Order: sequence, then structure tokens, then C-alpha cells
Amino acid sequence: MTSIVVARSLNNVIGHGQEIPWRVKGEQALFREITLGGTLVMGRKTFESIGRPLPGRETIIVTRNTEYAFEGCHTAPSLESALAKAEQLGRPVHIVGGGEIYAQALPIVDTVHLSTIQAEFDGDVFFPTFPTADFVEVEQKLFTSNIDYLYQRFERR
Ligand SMILES: NC(=O)c1ccc[n+]([C@@H]2O[C@H](COP(=O)([O-])OP(=O)(O)OC[C@H]3O[C@@H](n4cnc5c(N)ncnc54)[C@H](OP(=O)(O)O)[C@@H]3O)[C@@H](O)[C@H]2O)c1
Repeated sequence: MTSIVVARSLNNVIGHGQEIPWRVKGEQALFREITLGGTLVMGRKTFESIGRPLPGRETIIVTRNTEYAFEGCHTAPSLESALAKAEQLGRPVHIVGGGEIYAQALPIVDTVHLSTIQAEFDGDVFFPTFPTADFVEVEQKLFTSNIDYLYQRFERR
């Protein structure tokens, strides 16, 4: 089973340059809860914005640079190869961005963990158009915080 885990704003922004343009208390804890014990697949730019492997999870960095290496992480030259490597690791697989990787992964994932921050932000990286007809919402929870956020879990029909 492969999932996307993403937080977007009401205007679909997920990033501004290298950064996520909000700090929402509790949202990162939710990300941790969903992903702990699993394998994270991420684009090279997202990895560099985080800067280190996250504890308690395997990390696979997708990059076309065959010389790219970071201690404690795996690398893969394509999303397909990252998913094959993730399967070998035998843990739940979570695709965690960024925009380029989400766009390639959305047609193939089983589950989408979507947190929508209840505000608009300036940004230049966006979540791709979500094909709602292909998915069914199975869970929804509104969290109150410094900015409220709506968590929804979708499963492919
Ligand atoms: N809000 C959220 O939930 C969330 C989550 C994650 C990230 N973000 C944000 O998203 C932004 C980064 O997203 P992004 O779209 O700019 O970059 P990205 O998807 O993180 O990484 C893009 C890089 O991934 C590699 N790549 C992509 N497709 C590939 C393929 N098919 N085969 C091999 N390598 C491939 C390339 O690396 P090389 O150039 O090394 O070849 C490419 O430059 C940042 O602002 C970050 O903060 C937000």
C-alpha cells in the first residue's frame, strides 16, 4: 500500500521556494503519526529543504543525479525505482513531496492523507489537481490550532 501525505493551503499552495509557508501547531505531529515506522519517498528538493533523514523512518531520495548520496538515506533514479526499493524495505510507503513527485505519484497511490490549512498563502509550488472522482473520502477531522486544518483521508475507488 502506497500513500501520499501532503498539507496544502486553501489555494492549493504546498511550498514557496524551498520552504513550506506556514507553521501550524500539531500538523507536523500528525505527519509524524502517519509516517512513523514507514518509508518516505521524496524528491531531492524536498529532502534538501528538510536537510536530514527523519528518525524512525527510512528515506528514499528521488534524483536524476547518480552521484547524489546522503548518510542514512537511499537514493533512486526514478519514482518507479524508488517504489521498487521501498517495497524491498517492507514498510508502509509514504510519498511526501514535493510538487513534482506528487504529480507523478497521484495516478498510482492507494491512499491520500490530505491536510488543508484553512488559509491562503503565497507560493510557487502547488499540489496537482486532485481527481476526486477516483477517490472516496473515508475519514475527516477538523483540527483547531493557530490556523485550523482539515485532515481528510481518501482511498482509491
Ligand atoms: N506542504 C507539503 O506537504 C510539502 C511536502 C513536501 C514538500 N513541500 C514543498 O515542495 C517544494 C519542493 O517541491 P518541488 O516540486 O520543487 O521539488 P521535489 O518534487 O521535492 O523535487 C524535485 C526533484 O526531484 C527529482 N525528480 C523529480 N522527478 C523525478 C524523476 N521522475 N526521476 C528522477 N528524479 C526526479 C529531481 O531531482 P534532481 O534535480 O536532483 O535530479 C527534481 O529536481 C518545497 O517548497 C517544499 O517545501 C511541501
